[in-house]
Amino acid sequence: MRLNKTITKPRGTNDILPGETEQWQYIEEIIRTVCRVYGYREIRTPVFEHTELFQRGVGETTDIVGKEMYTFKDRGDRSITLRPEGTAAVVRAYLEHKIYAAPQPVKLYYIGPMFRYERSETGRYRQFHQFGVEVLGVHSPSIDAEVIAMAIAVYQRLGLKELALHINSLGCPQCRVELRRKLQDFLRPHLKEFCPECQGRFERNPLRMIDCKNKECNNLVIEAPSILDYLCAECQVFFAGVKSGLDLLGISYIIDKNLVRGLDYYTHTAFEIMAKGIGAQSSIGGGGRYNGLVETCGGPPIPGIGYALGLERVLLAIKAQKVPLPPAGCLDLFVVTASTDAEQVAFEILAQARSQGYAADKDYTGRSLKAQMKYAGKLNARYTVIIGENELNNNTLAVKNMLTGEQVAIDREKLTEFIGGK
Ligand code: HAM
Repeated sequence: MRLNKTITKPRGTNDILPGETEQWQYIEEIIRTVCRVYGYREIRTPVFEHTELFQRGVGETTDIVGKEMYTFKDRGDRSITLRPEGTAAVVRAYLEHKIYAAPQPVKLYYIGPMFRYERSETGRYRQFHQFGVEVLGVHSPSIDAEVIAMAIAVYQRLGLKELALHINSLGCPQCRVELRRKLQDFLRPHLKEFCPECQGRFERNPLRMIDCKNKECNNLVIEAPSILDYLCAECQVFFAGVKSGLDLLGISYIIDKNLVRGLDYYTHTAFEIMAKGIGAQSSIGGGGRYNGLVETCGGPPIPGIGYALGLERVLLAIKAQKVPLPPAGCLDLFVVTASTDAEQVAFEILAQARSQGYAADKDYTGRSLKAQMKYAGKLNARYTVIIGENELNNNTLAVKNMLTGEQVAIDREKLTEFIGGK
């Protein structure tokens, strides 16, 4: 069958092209370095899981599970979902492989694509990439402060400035019973004025009505009871511990009593990091503690805390803040041949240079000498190595520094010594 129309990528997805992939690799390298120095080890879980994992883990009342999941039946009639986030899958793997039997806490990180059927706009995509960390097996304010500090360290190493860290405590299930009642009493008289989504949340999860994205809803909750006023004594002490941990680490923060976050598993600490200059989707990362999630997923009562950032949004912030990124990869040398006689020598030079780790290439399309030089320039080659008749006869090479334009003749075996460091 012949297709007349070209096929484009699905809405909300991105091709990451050469030139951009180097930027992604650079960011990922910094992330991996920070993970290593903070003692995190990488975990790779499948991009799809049984749908039930997210229904139970992320929560039936969330937007993610309610309307954003890519869910389908596989050929064996199983309900499968492309992962919308990483935490539930890490917890599943932690249980499945009995990682809880190893010395705790366990510090894990992941980098990979996530899928949410959201309205696509700048900074919000249907396939996006997250870097996330999860610490399982410890309930201590100092690790919460450290997870936040690590997130900040990633942004700082990337050169990002003008960030705002918002923190809140969502308490424990016990403090939420009283809060839920007080909140519903407060919201009930105005229920009809809320957006239809919030009206739906009133019974299922009234706390989410506090951080609705809708301006009118925001105005209705200005005076709403704050969870911070209903924290039990233990949760208050814990939250104070997180704040003093951050103070100790010299990290400034804004206490945001309306920060609830869009996933149901959070307890205690919740946080989000915002960047200036990237438009409406300013949250470049967020996370929190989830002490009930391991149990919800069928395991023992093991506490956890984690965090994830969106790589696309981080890249947008880097560009908006004009933070310099390393130049796109370039060739160390490009071999230019004047005739087909030089072909064999060209291949020998390439083989030798490549075996020593130099990025080296040649023309394969029969370009003229001039066109080969131009092409070498387009490929950002540091040097071109020209093999003409003279060079063939004398066992030499003409080497041109593409930056300075300077050209010298050298012995063939002196090439890599001449061009030096990679
Ligand atoms: P989240 O807040 O849903 O948390 O996502 C974390 C980050 O992923 C966001 O701050 C944002 O930068 C990025 N992100 C989310 N959705 C999109 C999208 N549609 N397009 C582009 N970027 C997006 C979680 O996913 C939790 N699992 C984080 C966590 C880990 N909590 C505990 N451990």
